[in-house]
Amino acid sequence: MVGADMSELSGQVAIVTGGASGIGAATVALLAEAGATVVAADIQPAAKDAPGRFFNHDVAAEDSWKALLADVVARDGRLDILVNNAGITGGWGTVESTTVEQWRRIEAVDSEGVFLGCKYAIEGMKKTGPRKPAPKGSIVNVSSVAALIGSAGPTAYCAAKGAVRLLSKSVALYCAEKQYGIRCNSVHPGGVDTPIFNPLWQAVGRDKGKAMLGEHHPIGRIAEPQDLGELILWLASDRSSFVTGAEFVADGGLTSGLTRRGLFGTR
Ligand SMILES: NC(=O)c1ccc[n+]([C@@H]2O[C@H](COP(=O)([O-])OP(=O)(O)OC[C@H]3O[C@@H](n4cnc5c(N)ncnc54)[C@H](O)[C@@H]3O)[C@@H](O)[C@H]2O)c1
Repeated sequence: MVGADMSELSGQVAIVTGGASGIGAATVALLAEAGATVVAADIQPAAKDAPGRFFNHDVAAEDSWKALLADVVARDGRLDILVNNAGITGGWGTVESTTVEQWRRIEAVDSEGVFLGCKYAIEGMKKTGPRKPAPKGSIVNVSSVAALIGSAGPTAYCAAKGAVRLLSKSVALYCAEKQYGIRCNSVHPGGVDTPIFNPLWQAVGRDKGKAMLGEHHPIGRIAEPQDLGELILWLASDRSSFVTGAEFVADGGLTSGLTRRGLFGTR
């Protein structure tokens, strides 16, 4: 965040799911840099030198959420920010090739995991009481451009990310109606250089893979994890205090419309 006060989030406690890698790890670093106590909750360990505290957590398991919230409330006494970022593509299956088992696993992590996160974060934020003078809490759900435009595959991923988009609005409106002082928004990245693309990097090489993906983004490149982390930091902080139930696209122009590279091609 340009010009951010490095103690802007001091005294605040944040959980970032999928915080061990990619967008999550960049977000953990930025929230910690802004002064928050950050818990990176993930099924894989965080890097040894990563900022924040690691918690072994499976977003698809309700008991795991209960354990995570109990631990955070016991240690830190409060919860201010939840970033529901953990996600899997589960392969790139189409409606014909995706098995019911694959569908259920992808929905469990990418959709149900976000629902559980919202549910238990609201409980945790309510239990620990709102910050003074104004009640504030922020939930940021990482969806995808796959929630905004269709694609032939990955089918289950598109369905799950679409669900997260409307779930976020429902949570935002519910919290507003209840006057909880908790905001909820969704973030929709285009391509981001993270290990989620390892299969592509392994198939064609990282540089070539990045260039191939970059071709589909009008801006000419895919994002770095920090590009998304900055947006998430803004949504997590009080700088976005009037923003709730909204969707934020960070995709280098991918979903803006047709480019001259495409249908109206001049190059
Ligand atoms: N990279 C992209 O191009 C891109 C584009 C759009 C949306 N996204 C979304 O961004 C989010 C972060 O993805 P990323 O690109 O940083 O990928 P990543 O693979 O680098 O990170 C995902 C993290 O989630 C963790 N995770 C997976 N299943 C989990 C579970 N059940 N419980 C807890 N943690 C779990 C993984 O261990 C990993 O650390 C995902 O929701 C993804 O769908 C990514």
